[in-house]
Amino acid sequence: MTVALPGLALALLCLLQVGAKVPVQPDFDADKFAGMWYVTAAASNCSIFLKMKDGMKSSITTISFTPEGDLAMKLVWPLLDQCQKFELLLQQSGQAGRYTADQEKRDVLVMETDYSHYAIVHEVHQSETEPSTALQLLTRAQDVSPQLLQKFTELIPTMGLTKDMLAILPKSDQCTKAIS
Ligand SMILES: *[C@@H]1O[C@H](CO)[C@@H](O)[C@H](O)[C@H]1NC(C)=O
Repeated sequence: MTVALPGLALALLCLLQVGAKVPVQPDFDADKFAGMWYVTAAASNCSIFLKMKDGMKSSITTISFTPEGDLAMKLVWPLLDQCQKFELLLQQSGQAGRYTADQEKRDVLVMETDYSHYAIVHEVHQSETEPSTALQLLTRAQDVSPQLLQKFTELIPTMGLTKDMLAILPKSDQCTKAIS
């Protein structure tokens, strides 16, 4: 556990990174975006993610917004026999649907969402040593339709990533009770 955790935490950070030229969901509505999502698939060229992706399971993220409009994210990630919890606060950027962290080195952008079924989140980490890009598929239900998965998979190469960087995260009931 104690050995795996820093790696996992870093792998999660790989998934929390956004670029400038990526489209944002028009008329993004934060209130409708809030609530619980399953992270059902992810793709990233971050080396730690690529090392760990085959052992990752679907996690749960609960999103809320502060009165200032910042995005608060609570993640519950099944790891071995435990549920690891992480909390992150992303600052609003002035553009609806786009959030930043680490002095704007990390951007998180909601590319597309219908609020009630799915969201596609794009992230970029501007690091001098290892810049990386990630895409995440969030779904309200734990089951994801083949059509949605296909749509997500088709987006991967358009973001400069390759399909072998994709992890379809297996469903897990391990942590559904750990959220609150
Ligand atoms: C990840 O992909 C982005 C976009 O193509 C690129 O700018 C970055 O250098 C890549 N990082 C790695 C570690 O390959």
